[in-house]
Amino acid sequence: MSPSLLPEEPTATEADPVPSPHAPAGSTVPADPPELAADHIRQWHQSDGELIDLLRLARTLGPVSRLQLGPKSTVLLTDPAGIQHVLALNPDRYQKRSHRARALLGDGVLTAGGEHWKRQRRLLQSYFTGQGIRRFTSAMHDAARHVATQWSHSADSGQARDITADMRFYALDVIWRALTGHGATADTRRILSALDVILTALPVLPPPDGHQPDLGGHLTTIHHIVDAAIAEARGTATPPGGPALLHSLIRAADEQSWPDNLIRDEVMTLLVAGQETTANTLVWLYVLLGQCPDERTRALRAGPAGSADRNRAFQALISETLRLYPVAWLLPRHATEDDIVAGHQVRPGTTILACPYLTHRDPALWPEPERFLPRRFTTGHDRPTQPGAYYPFGLGPRACLGAQFALREAITLLEYLLPAYTATPDAAPADAAFGITISPATAVRATITRLAQPLSTVDR
Ligand code: HEM
Repeated sequence: MSPSLLPEEPTATEADPVPSPHAPAGSTVPADPPELAADHIRQWHQSDGELIDLLRLARTLGPVSRLQLGPKSTVLLTDPAGIQHVLALNPDRYQKRSHRARALLGDGVLTAGGEHWKRQRRLLQSYFTGQGIRRFTSAMHDAARHVATQWSHSADSGQARDITADMRFYALDVIWRALTGHGATADTRRILSALDVILTALPVLPPPDGHQPDLGGHLTTIHHIVDAAIAEARGTATPPGGPALLHSLIRAADEQSWPDNLIRDEVMTLLVAGQETTANTLVWLYVLLGQCPDERTRALRAGPAGSADRNRAFQALISETLRLYPVAWLLPRHATEDDIVAGHQVRPGTTILACPYLTHRDPALWPEPERFLPRRFTTGHDRPTQPGAYYPFGLGPRACLGAQFALREAITLLEYLLPAYTATPDAAPADAAFGITISPATAVRATITRLAQPLSTVDR
């Protein structure tokens, strides 16, 4: 939506405590959140704007605000205490209902609920946290070396590279290696194109008319490839380096009599949840480093290759990227009971939209919120400490299962690329597109330059 179409002064209603319809006569309860006037929503619909435009407008009413999106009463929440209350402390009252994702992911851990979700989560957690992720170290290094080799060729030829394509391939290659023990092939590249179409087609929120995009053919393409990988893993012995994730899933499925298709659902879940998120984070990091090249130098000077200091500095680059671009930018929940959130009344049936993108750019929480300042995460300055102020991986029991995996994966790639190459974007940074994830609206291309003597050995 162009800024000129945004109404100047959004109007709030019901800002003060009012008598509750459920409360005894004479008593008062907290007010409903201020509501965005229907006119603004109508204008937004007519302008064919992005959802983020409407949410930015609603946010001007306060960190808890209401907007009527179709038949659903929706509450936008950016307040840290409210976020903590909804996502971390009361997950039973604020349920995840992933109806749209279920068409894509079946009953995998991202979409399942109740006992079924608990069992799946417990199983996968052992592979994705603590020592568990060590089993994926060589998969990450092999995939990172592949990208470094490509960058080396481009540095020699002087031809610009499509960084978006590189990061998408890397993220898929890592998950595929983790799952199967093999690198991505021509077949798996077809997964990328199919995923791309599917994720672009999925609306961020369910459309009011309930219309679902037709994902049929693209979904079938991915299912065929995944089914073939499952069949192959069933027919082969455990690889010498220990079982790939797929072998472990098959074993669990056999031991626990999983229903048909659940292994495929889990594989689909890991591909969808882990591929685009990590890839876009790495693309945004390169966009930001293009604007602030000194941050690359600063991170490399933090310590020698492999040191804890350098690791911390690389992690800070990623954390600050995820502050500015929390790629999973909107976390919807369904309120099941009357409740009070950050001082406001919330009714059952309301959709709560927790929005890390808006919380992370709130000037009341983050000094100079639009600036890329990785040192926030090494020094602790310029960074709020209250829970719920920073949540790129969500919070509470439904927080990202792959957070440690994603960080390790991103740092591994940076260890290969940052000391050896600079990537200078060929064009001014593209606008952000707010789909299922936040991505640059157009592919990012950059010229790769090899450093004669990497900073890691020279500049200390
Ligand atoms: C930078 C990369 C990533 C980001 C920013 C990210 C972000 C998130 C967020 C915000 C959620 C919670 C959604 C909600 O509360 O509604 C989530 C859930 C999840 N993520 Fe990630 N993710 C990333 C990478 C990964 C990777 C690499 C994997 C696996 C290989 C993964 C697997 C999952 C799964 C399975 C869930 C669902 C957990 C559950 O519901 O129990 N994610 N992710």
